[in-house]
Amino acid sequence: MEIHHTVPALRQRLSWATRVVFVPTMGNLHEGHLDLVRLARKHGDCVVVSIFVNPLQFGPNEDYAQYPRTLDADCAKLEGLADVVFAPSVADLYPVEQTMFVEPPPLATELCGEFRPGHFRGVATVVLKLFNVVQPHAAVFGKKDYQQLAVIRALAEQFNLPIEIVAAETSRAPNHLALSSRNGYLSEAERGEAIRLFRNLATIREALQSGSRDYAALEQAARGDLESHGWRVDYLSLRNAATLAPAAPEERNLVVLGAAWLGKTRLIDNLEIALA
Ligand code: PAJ
Repeated sequence: MEIHHTVPALRQRLSWATRVVFVPTMGNLHEGHLDLVRLARKHGDCVVVSIFVNPLQFGPNEDYAQYPRTLDADCAKLEGLADVVFAPSVADLYPVEQTMFVEPPPLATELCGEFRPGHFRGVATVVLKLFNVVQPHAAVFGKKDYQQLAVIRALAEQFNLPIEIVAAETSRAPNHLALSSRNGYLSEAERGEAIRLFRNLATIREALQSGSRDYAALEQAARGDLESHGWRVDYLSLRNAATLAPAAPEERNLVVLGAAWLGKTRLIDNLEIALA
């Protein structure tokens, strides 16, 4: 496995590569990321993983400075799974001030976008830059970040990028907690409590599968359960799984998405719900 830090070095290495498949990450890798890399292997010959904490996608009061940077440990985990790691510095990827941006669709101002203004603009902009540097034929993104995946799909489609966007299922701990770099922020007690978000999503899925259709009541009950256990809920919302528009009354393909704060940690999760 090779590690490159600059755009010219990476381009040089990839100039002779065929069927490049790309997994962008911000590092601090866990099994969820590694599952993406394993899936990537099935979609190409040369697996490239980027590790870059992108300042553009963090708000002024968010955890950019605090975000864990663990490059050596990350590379050790990728050994044998990836062919090339691209780990640029901020100056390598943004040698001049970034004054041009990808403006994502209105969808990006809802859900996480409502609470993280500019976040998806930062994501879409860095992903387009990384796509242009790596020039993959396929790229893998996790459903864990469901809205991000939708924004990336729109990016690829609307900018005619010749890149297949591959979606990976959410990797979970045995208790179903979605794996996340931010789980590392949780205290021991919070770690046990964190599963409540998923449990509420699962409860909504069961209710819908049993015939309930009162979306607002289901959302409200889940929100209430979280709040009564000390969570601060950003949103909890049933949506159309493909468009992320608010779920219509007789929707068959739904996704329920939630974002909520447990202490100082913001957790997100979602669950797709296909109704017969
Ligand atoms: P990061 O949070 O490091 O996630 C990198 C990729 O791993 C994303 O596609 C994310 O959806 C996926 N991922 C994270 N946890 C997962 C889990 N438990 N199961 C499945 N996939 C999971 O997302 C980003 O970085 C950044 O926004 C990025 C796209 C790299 C742009 O900076």
